[in-house]
Amino acid sequence: MSGHGQPVPLTARPGHALRGTAPVPGDKSISHRALILGALAVGETRIRGLLEGQDVLDTAAAMRAFGAQVEREGQEWVVHGVGTGGFAEPADVIDCGNSGTGVRLIMGAMATTPITATFTGDASLRRRPMGRVTEPLSLFGARAYGREGGRLPMTVVGARDPLPVRHALTVPSAQVKSAILLAGLNAPGQTVVIEREATRDHTERMLKGFGAEIHIADGPEGREIAVTGRPELRPQRIEVPRDPSSAAFPVCAGLIVPGSEVLVPAIGLNPTRAGLYQTLVEMGADLTFENRREEGGEPVADLRARFSGALRGVEVPPERAASMIDEYPILSVVAAFAEGPTVMRGVRELRVKESDRIEAMAQVLRAAGVEVEEGPDWWIVHGRGAGGVRGGGLAQTRLDHRIAMSALILGLASREGMGVDDAGPIATSFPAFAGLMTDLGAVLEPGDER
Ligand code: S3P
Repeated sequence: MSGHGQPVPLTARPGHALRGTAPVPGDKSISHRALILGALAVGETRIRGLLEGQDVLDTAAAMRAFGAQVEREGQEWVVHGVGTGGFAEPADVIDCGNSGTGVRLIMGAMATTPITATFTGDASLRRRPMGRVTEPLSLFGARAYGREGGRLPMTVVGARDPLPVRHALTVPSAQVKSAILLAGLNAPGQTVVIEREATRDHTERMLKGFGAEIHIADGPEGREIAVTGRPELRPQRIEVPRDPSSAAFPVCAGLIVPGSEVLVPAIGLNPTRAGLYQTLVEMGADLTFENRREEGGEPVADLRARFSGALRGVEVPPERAASMIDEYPILSVVAAFAEGPTVMRGVRELRVKESDRIEAMAQVLRAAGVEVEEGPDWWIVHGRGAGGVRGGGLAQTRLDHRIAMSALILGLASREGMGVDDAGPIATSFPAFAGLMTDLGAVLEPGDER
C-alpha cells in the first residue's frame, strides 16, 4: 500500500474519562522479523499474535514475492521458508508502503543472494535515507542504485560471492544492525556488527531462537554482535508480545485524561524498548507494572495507568533515546500536561522517521497553545500542567501514524479537542486504535471540524 487512499479526517473530543482494558496489537518490530526469519528458515514457522497492520502485511507480501509461502490460517500465520540463500528473484517491484523497518530488513535479507530487486514505498518512505543500509551492505559485495541521496525507488543487486563483514554502526539503528545481521546469514564466516548504543535486540534474540550461531560480547568500541553465516535456520512457533510502542497511546491517555484508569495487558517490556515507561515514572505517573513474567523469551507485564494530575517535566537522558525512539511524539504530549519543561536531547534520529517528528509535533503542540523550542537534535516542551492545554488546533499527520495518534490523545485531554487531517496512517501499526480508544470511553468523530 502506498498511502494513495482518501484522507480520513478525525476529531478527538475532550471531557470523557477513559476506563477499561486495552488489548493492543502485536509488536511491529517482532512481527516483521517473524515473517522474514520464517521465510529464511527451512520448513513451517507458525506465528500467533502477528500485527496485522499494513506495514507488516506489506512485508508478508514481499516474502511471497521472494518465494516464501505466507498464509493466515485461523488465528495463526504460517510461513513456509526457502532457507538462507534461497530467495528467488521477485518478478515485480517490492512496495514496502510506509515501512522503513520492512524495506531495510528485506534489503539486508536479500543482499547476499545473487538476485536483483527493486524497492519502493509511499511518499514518506521515498523521502527516507537508505544509504545507512546500502553502504554497509556494499561491504558484502551488494550494489544499490537509487535516487539522489540514497532514496527509493532503489534497485539492489545481491552479492554473488559475499564476503563476511565487520562494521561499527555510525547511527544508532536497529534497522541497520538487523539488515547487516540478516545479510551475514548468507555470507561465509563470521559477520560482526558493533553498536555503541544498545538498540532493540529482537533480531539477536530471534536469530538465537531460529538456531543461528550468534555471540554477543562487550568490546572496546561497544557491543559486538557476531553471527556465523550459512546456518540452517530451524522453523519456530512464535508468540508475538503486545507492542509497547502501541501501548504507549492508551497508557499515556490514561495518565492525562482526568478520571481515567486503563489496564493494558501483556505488554512486551524488553529493556531496549521500555525507556518511555521509566521516563513516565520519573515524571510522577501513577503507573503500575503487574504480573511481571516472561513470554516467548521477552519480559512482559500488565500495565495499569491512572490519571496523574501532578506530572513534572523532566530531562530525558540522551543515552535513553534508543530505548524510546518511537515514543517521543506521545511523550511530548504528556510533557504538555506536566508542570515545567521537558528537555529531550540526542534525538536527531526523530528527524528521519516516517516524518520529521520534532517539526511535526512542534506544529501540533503549538496549534494547541503549547510552547516548544527545537534544535537539530533536541527539543523542549514547556508543560502547562493538568487542565492547562487549550487544544483546538488541526494537526497535519504527514503520513505518520504516531503523529496522528499523539495528536488525537492530546485532543482527548485538552479543553477544546483536536482534529487530524488524516487518521489513515494509523492503520500501518495500530488498525484497531480508534475502536479500542472508543471502547475505553474516548469520543472520536469523523471529520476535522471542532
Ligand atoms: C525499528 C527500529 C527503529 C524504530 C522503528 C522500528 C526496528 O528504527 O524507530 O520503528 O524494528 O528495528 P531505527 O532503526 O531507524 O532507529
